[in-house]
Amino acid sequence: MNFSERILKVKPSPTLAITALANSLKAKGVDVIGFGSGEPDFDTPDFIKDAAVRALNAGKTKYTPAGGIVELKEAIAKKFKKDNNLSYETSNVTVNCGGKHSFYNLMQIFLNDGDEVIIPAPYWVSYPSIVLLAGGNPVILNSREENNFKVTPDEIKAVISNKTKAIVINSPSNPTGSMYNKKELKAIADVLAEYDIAIISDDIYESLIYDNNTFTNIANISDEIKNKTIVLNGVSKTYSMTGWRIGYMAASQDIIKKVEIIQSQSTSNPTSIAQWAALEALSGDQSIIQKMLEVFDRRRKIIIDGLNAIEGITCNKPDGAFYAFPNITGVLKHKGWDSVKAKYQDVNNSSALCSYLIQEAGVAAVPGVEFGSDSHLRLSFATSDENIIKGVDRIKSAVEKMI
Ligand SMILES: Cc1ncc(COP(=O)(O)O)c(C=O)c1O
Repeated sequence: MNFSERILKVKPSPTLAITALANSLKAKGVDVIGFGSGEPDFDTPDFIKDAAVRALNAGKTKYTPAGGIVELKEAIAKKFKKDNNLSYETSNVTVNCGGKHSFYNLMQIFLNDGDEVIIPAPYWVSYPSIVLLAGGNPVILNSREENNFKVTPDEIKAVISNKTKAIVINSPSNPTGSMYNKKELKAIADVLAEYDIAIISDDIYESLIYDNNTFTNIANISDEIKNKTIVLNGVSKTYSMTGWRIGYMAASQDIIKKVEIIQSQSTSNPTSIAQWAALEALSGDQSIIQKMLEVFDRRRKIIIDGLNAIEGITCNKPDGAFYAFPNITGVLKHKGWDSVKAKYQDVNNSSALCSYLIQEAGVAAVPGVEFGSDSHLRLSFATSDENIIKGVDRIKSAVEKMI
């Protein structure tokens, strides 16, 4: 079979692959601690599940409008007003089959072959692949770790070309957890105001922010910037609803209409009962978010302190989300030191270190190279305190053998 050039440019999601590998080893009885997963380890709250059951029993099992039921659109518009101080009509809002699908739809409506999308690195693994699938070119803009993995207005300006169609801002970020503050966003907005470029603000980790910091969206900077911005969000991470596949976006009406055309000709609509569950999630008791955040905050401390105590590893404290992104250059330096260390000389990049850790230590992490940095690993701390303590301990022992 001759496959399309587009599909041949793309490989399966590495984070899903690592999680599948860890699960298959566990099923064979191997004791593996999984740090791969990009989803909260809590069950979906009962009041949300109950809403889905009610919808099911009430026969809400048919096609819905392509862009989602109006009740959910209204709840999303209310959420944007309440949480983000952004005013949208329901005609500015659409519901997709997960935040990943929101980004996919956008790339389909924006890109012609060769159009460019600026993606600050380290980045969420799916952005470049989804751009490639739409025929576009991901323009990877490396950030500096000293700047807490945030890109500056000058750095952005330097990569804008006449082919640039969009730029992605993911704050807090997967994988680094870094969050832009209002001042930084204002400086970026001042540059972007000069160009006809769509700003895609992926806010999926918006509610998982630590140390009482406040979240700002670049669309809050001015109406002019809001008109250029597409805000992406979803219920996966905030309400532990990854399997329900509900994401949503807010944008100008012309964008929303086009996204709904794509959806009407592809998925038809997001799953009906999942939409009713998402409605309950957004409009019901929000105290679950705070409870989840407290647990993640405790784990954040355990994992970051634990990783920083390992020789050769340094790790920034994430502002949000549930990922640690340790720098491993000190671990990889062992190469060629002496005959004992020479045994490990092939462990000289993030993928090799992940293979070593899974084999030697029974620890599954994701190589940083998948996120655009071969000097890091990504460890999700959406797992129990016990697992984190045990896993970090195992990494320490495995790394000590090498360096
Ligand atoms: C940065 C980022 N955006 C979007 C998503 C999409 O999540 P979902 O498709 O489950 O809504 C993810 C999930 O890992 C993510 O990390």
